[in-house]
Amino acid sequence: FGLQSSNTLKFPAIAEYFIAVASEAELVSAVTYAKQHHLPIRILGGGSNVLMAPQIDGLVIRIDIMGQRVFESGDSVSILLGGGENWHETVRWSVERGLSGIESMALIPGRVGASPVQNIGAYGTELKDVLRTVRAYHVTSGRFVELSNSECQFAYRDSLFKHFPGEYIITEVELQLFRQQDASIRYAALQNYFDQQHITQPGVQQVFDAVCAVRRSKLPDPEILANAGSFFKNPVISEQQHQFIKQQWPNLIAYPDRPGFMKLAAGWLIDQCDWKGKGTANVGVYDKQALVLVHFGGGQLTELLQLAGEIQASVYVAFDVQLEIEPQAFPFN
Ligand code: EPU
Repeated sequence: FGLQSSNTLKFPAIAEYFIAVASEAELVSAVTYAKQHHLPIRILGGGSNVLMAPQIDGLVIRIDIMGQRVFESGDSVSILLGGGENWHETVRWSVERGLSGIESMALIPGRVGASPVQNIGAYGTELKDVLRTVRAYHVTSGRFVELSNSECQFAYRDSLFKHFPGEYIITEVELQLFRQQDASIRYAALQNYFDQQHITQPGVQQVFDAVCAVRRSKLPDPEILANAGSFFKNPVISEQQHQFIKQQWPNLIAYPDRPGFMKLAAGWLIDQCDWKGKGTANVGVYDKQALVLVHFGGGQLTELLQLAGEIQASVYVAFDVQLEIEPQAFPFN
């Protein structure tokens, strides 16, 4: 079964078996079938954060479980979303209903069920800030479980689900939103946008529109130019190492992380090594955002990984910082 159109990097990939499931009952049947036939199980969402191998053995299960339910109590609103829902359409839907909480995560590609896996985040908000519970099928025990926010062990682009790949199949996500509140702007690129537009107290719809405009100005639309968003994580280093690098690179861009640590802008590091717009005929570094690697077509995953390795090496030589690849290998080995 061909999966080239099911991964946003658009690399050719063939799965041994494939099924799309629209309900929890169908999911359980698919997993049971795979267990009976000793097939490895691979879970696919929107394919926007995966590095797909050319041949995928076992059963690929795509979660197409839909649903949007709203529960209100005073100003607090909880929404229950099927794992197959499109993330961006969900954000738009919540903004149209005057709900706040996820407006700054507009235009993130992918599906709701994948959003907790890498704890998606943008412009000052991460999923962990709004997530209440995750409902998932636990493959080993054959039971559905409900995990609380803390049980998901969220960290920057990380969660429990990344550490136990294939163990939990997310079917539903519950988010905690609010009736329209003043949006708080926690990100320079957004603040600049509002300053230029002379908007002093942006509402939820304005933040949504601004995030869409800023993202469109520097991130490629995967429908037009194949990519998987940021290709590397922003590296977190000690305050001491940050001071050391800053002596040589006074313009270094960094944000405070947990106490004693700083998070560097990986895009800036790659940019300093002059990678923007470079690459081969098939794969390259996006010319407006050095953190995004793109596939022009006709290329292979190995070519992109080769380019990524060269970028990692040059950043390591220049800054003594090791960049970590962000999208997950599919299948995960
Ligand atoms: N920068 C450069 N050159 C570049 C790229 C960036 O100098 O080529 C500088 C920018 O000028 C800015 C800083 O680096 O001062 C940070 O850049 P940006 O605001 O574009 O954000 P980022 O740190 O590169 C992260 C997330 C994005 C998210 C944005 C906005 C990661 C790995 N990436 O990118 O998430 O949209 O912040 O919040 O954390 C993703 O994960 O796929 C993703 C796109």
